[in-house]
Order: sequence, then C-alpha cells, then structure tokens
Amino acid sequence: MAAVERTLSIIKPDATRRNLTGRINAKFEEQGLRIVAQKRIRLTREQAEAFYAVHRERPFFGGLVAFMTSGPVVVQVLEGEDAVARNREIMGATDPAKAAPGTIRKEFAENIEANSVHGSDSAENAAREIAFFFSEIEIVG
Ligand code: PPS
Repeated sequence: MAAVERTLSIIKPDATRRNLTGRINAKFEEQGLRIVAQKRIRLTREQAEAFYAVHRERPFFGGLVAFMTSGPVVVQVLEGEDAVARNREIMGATDPAKAAPGTIRKEFAENIEANSVHGSDSAENAAREIAFFFSEIEIVG
C-alpha cells in the first residue's frame, strides 16, 4: 500500500477571483485527497518572494510575485496516499495548453502564469512549504 503523505496546495488569485475554490476542492476530494488544513490569505510581497525564492533568477520571477500578491489565495494541506504525485496529476501540466483533459489546469487555468493552483513537487519541498504556512496544531487529519 502506498504511503499516506501530505502536500501543500495553493489556489491562486485567478481562481479565487473567479469563485472557483469549491470546484477545485471538489476535484481534490473526488480523487481521494483530504483537505486537512485550509485558510484564505493575502500574500505580502515579502512572503511571495520567500516562498518562490528558488525561482529568484528566472525571468518570470517578478511577474509571478506580482500575480501571487494580486488577490487572495487559499493555502491548504492535502493528505492521502502518494499525495504529492497524486496532486500533481490532478493539477495537470504547468502550462494549461499542455495539461491533460479533466485536470484542474486544463479546465480552469487561464495561462502559464494564471494557472489556478500550485502543488509541492517533492515530499521534501512539501514539508518545507507546509511549515511555511501552517503550524502542526492547524493541521487536523
Ligand atoms: S520548474 O523548473 O519545474 O521548477 O518550473 P515550473 O514548475 O514549471 O514553474 C515554477 C513556477 O513558476 C511558474 N511559471 C511561470 N510563471 C509565469 N510565467 C512563466 N512563463 C512561468 N513558467 C513557470 C509556474 O506556474 C510555477 O508556479 P507554482 O506556483 O510553483 O505552480
């Protein structure tokens, strides 16, 4: 049996603006992931720069920080078997033009920047990203 894991998810400003939080959460729940922590917040520039620090040298960094601070986001912890990989399947490819049918990004994303959701890309990054937003007592499995 696959290990039960946790991963960090962010519903991005393009999706909260279009009132898609419930439809995106339904995708997670219908496909076996449990939302064990969730809060709606407005990221500061400093928080967004720190969260995306690994991408600091990339040409899209400034635009990504501006976008992620342009409206509310919903940060959440998802739990389930193989949650990191499972969530990435449910999200679909970074670029919605390349995302598979039925994925969140195929159905909802506007473009490669306004792509509706973020998900941790490894168990190690998931642990770091969850700790960035949540304390252990806020996560109820
Ligand atoms: S990588 O190299 O695999 O880490 O890159 P990737 O996961 O594809 O992208 C990292 C995050 O940067 C966002 N991104 C972009 N934003 C704006 N413009 C462009 N061209 C662009 N390319 C990638 C992408 O949505 C990822 O954001 P998160 O929040 O991590 O999903």
